[in-house]
Amino acid sequence: MDKLVIYLPLIRPMAKLRVEEAILLRRSIRNYLNKPVEIEKLSLLLWSAYGYTYPIKGFRASPSAGATFPLELYVVIGSKGAINGEEYVEPGSYKYRADTHSLILIRKGDLRRELYIGALEQEWVLQAPLSIIITAVYERTTSYYGERGAKRYVPMEVGHVGQNIYLLATSLGLGTVAVGAFYDEYVSNVIDASEDEVPMYIMPIGYPATPIMRNFDEINSFIEINRKRKKKSLLNM
Ligand SMILES: Cc1cc2nc3c(=O)[nH]c(=O)nc-3n(C[C@H](O)[C@H](O)[C@H](O)COP(=O)(O)O)c2cc1C
Repeated sequence: MDKLVIYLPLIRPMAKLRVEEAILLRRSIRNYLNKPVEIEKLSLLLWSAYGYTYPIKGFRASPSAGATFPLELYVVIGSKGAINGEEYVEPGSYKYRADTHSLILIRKGDLRRELYIGALEQEWVLQAPLSIIITAVYERTTSYYGERGAKRYVPMEVGHVGQNIYLLATSLGLGTVAVGAFYDEYVSNVIDASEDEVPMYIMPIGYPATPIMRNFDEINSFIEINRKRKKKSLLNM
């Protein structure tokens, strides 16, 4: 039987914040509303994480050592976790294909409870309507860079992708948290990842239960107070 393929809505800018505002308001969110994520927002999140931004060269939204692009993305969608127009997206584990900007159903069902158990029972993994999982195929990078690729480049690249997801989520009114604590093999089985993939991050996505309020004045007065303190202590030296 053919696998279910969801062609995600084409890329349409819809972020509501400037980059520096998203940086200011980015926080790790561990409480979500019981509200589905619109497929247009999921589409933009995945593209911002690892979609193509310079197709002729094969370059993507996140930088990669030697353009080896060792990462893969999965989405675990819970029951009523994502909405496409009037319809909920079939719950399951999906693999993201950047070239066709699509999701391929790998395993059916609401897998959030399994993912939560694999993630040391961190509540936010169970509560979020969906999670993005970043996996790494180390071989793609280590075949060029050896140990340095494994120890440095691959984990660095996961950080780049993770930060893009954090910032896009924030600018779309969503929230996330980078979850690094989990049982690798257990999570691989939940999403049904390929043998050569290692799960690196689970990033639950959802609407924050409490909005983040912060402004630049608050940050600037913090800086100014510290400057005054520093000047005083220099005078007393
Ligand atoms: C490598 C890494 C692993 C992390 N793992 C977890 C985790 O397993 N669970 C969790 O709730 N938060 C996790 N976090 C999020 C941190 O707790 C969070 O970034 C930190 O408390 C600072 O808060 P902020 O992100 O709101 O600035 C992780 C962050 C990083 C960078």
